[in-house]
Amino acid sequence: MTANIIDGKAFAGTVREKVAAHVARLKEENNITPGLAVVLVGEDPASQVYVRSKGKQTVETGMKSVEHKLDVDTSEADLLALIDQLNNDETIHGILVQLPLPKHLNEDLVINSISPAKDVDGFHISNVGLLGTGQKSMVPCTPLGCLMMLRDYHGSLSGLNAVVIGRSNIVGKPMAQLLLGDSCTVTIAHSRTKDLEEVVRRADIVVAAVGRPEMVPGSWIGKGATVIDVGINRIEKEDGKMKLVGDVDFASVSEVAGAITPVPGGVGPMTIACLLANTLTACCRANGLQEPEGLTA
Ligand code: GUN
Repeated sequence: MTANIIDGKAFAGTVREKVAAHVARLKEENNITPGLAVVLVGEDPASQVYVRSKGKQTVETGMKSVEHKLDVDTSEADLLALIDQLNNDETIHGILVQLPLPKHLNEDLVINSISPAKDVDGFHISNVGLLGTGQKSMVPCTPLGCLMMLRDYHGSLSGLNAVVIGRSNIVGKPMAQLLLGDSCTVTIAHSRTKDLEEVVRRADIVVAAVGRPEMVPGSWIGKGATVIDVGINRIEKEDGKMKLVGDVDFASVSEVAGAITPVPGGVGPMTIACLLANTLTACCRANGLQEPEGLTA
């Protein structure tokens, strides 16, 4: 058996098209342009790449993009003052502070200073609580992208056994909440889980978000399961070349699974597409307008 490939790159393209079409309508009918502000503190190379990509795609979908690049030794007070200014800026509907922050800045404090309505990352404690209680919230982009692909592939997720491997605040925990919201029976597994293989083998849906290259082999996967690979790990091959791999071993897992997201080209492109979707959603909510269909949880 060879698994169906869930093409996240193509799916992200259709999400961006939907966002762009809705943005064009907002401009024409309401004279409103959604705006996203991205704040980067310091010069972490990976973060710089992400921020550039976010800005580019924001503009390509017709939205306003503002980038604030701050010195690595920016004080907490200065960063909080900038966030306060963006919270009060009516042309900005989404605010994203790129993580990780330099060590001297308190990440929780900074994230929780963003207005929850503009928190397009869905990391603010209010949004975490709203999601956990099944209320309307801003939903973290990576799990939202995974949910969209799962809904597209399965139709209804109701009653399916879902195992999320990884318990991070950014992916594992919100992913579990979203799957529960779609009536899956959800298990959150992690590095201390007893009989992890057995737990994973029972799953109809496996979401791997541990950050360990090729940790999940095909022998752990139940026949026909859908596997969503959130991992993006850079490893060195035998010939010395660098290669991107996920948290699952694609070669062996794709022999057993019913469907699988590749790395690269799976979850990764969906994350930024969902950031654009969240910015549009935040803008619609801020203006009391109908939210885009199919782009929210
Ligand atoms: N750094 C890595 N992933 C993310 C993300 O999804 N949001 C933010 N703000 N920073 C990140």
